Amino acid sequence: MNPAVNGTRTFSLRTLARTKFLARRLAKTLAGRELLLLSGGLGSGKTTFVRCLAESLGIGPSWVSSPSFTLVQRYPAGARGFGIAHVDLYRLPPGSDLEPLGLEELLAGDDLIVVEWPEAGEEIWQTCGRPIVQIRFEVTGLSARRAVVEDREA
Ligand SMILES: Nc1ncnc2c1ncn2[C@@H]1O[C@H](COP(=O)(O)OP(=O)(O)OP(=O)(O)O)[C@@H](O)[C@H]1O
Ligand SMILES: [Mg+2]
Repeated sequence: MNPAVNGTRTFSLRTLARTKFLARRLAKTLAGRELLLLSGGLGSGKTTFVRCLAESLGIGPSWVSSPSFTLVQRYPAGARGFGIAHVDLYRLPPGSDLEPLGLEELLAGDDLIVVEWPEAGEEIWQTCGRPIVQIRFEVTGLSARRAVVEDREA
């Protein structure tokens, strides 16, 4: 059964400041048990959004990076009492076994989970029981992006 869709909102992120604003706004609604799925092409702003979100949650934004080899990074809890598990599946070869990544354990834990390039794990996300916030980023200009945010029931 498909989880119910609560609502879809579109945000015009005309500058990086608007992206920060959206991250701050979303951060206020998070309790740490959510799963954020960030989709969109290369350079569309997914990692930048994670960095803004970390900052809004009192987690040092400098923790956040896009490393070449690590698929899962964990940032320790900040002011709001929960950390972030930052998953980036871009470099995962098609058809890979996701088991060794330890996603099940992360999903059962207390960290907020944020996933870039989530397509490869769709089945896992749908069955994990966490409330899902899906954000699709699009490039609309040199420093402009669009974000379509969709909340789903667990
Ligand atoms: N309004 C904006 N919001 C977010 N990023 C912006 C904005 N304007 C410009 N940028 C720039 O766009 C780039 C986005 O890169 P980022 O690494 O966040 O993309 P990504 O979606 O994570 O890409 P990848 O799929 O390669 O991981 C950054 O250099 C960022 O500074
Ligand atoms: Mg990225």
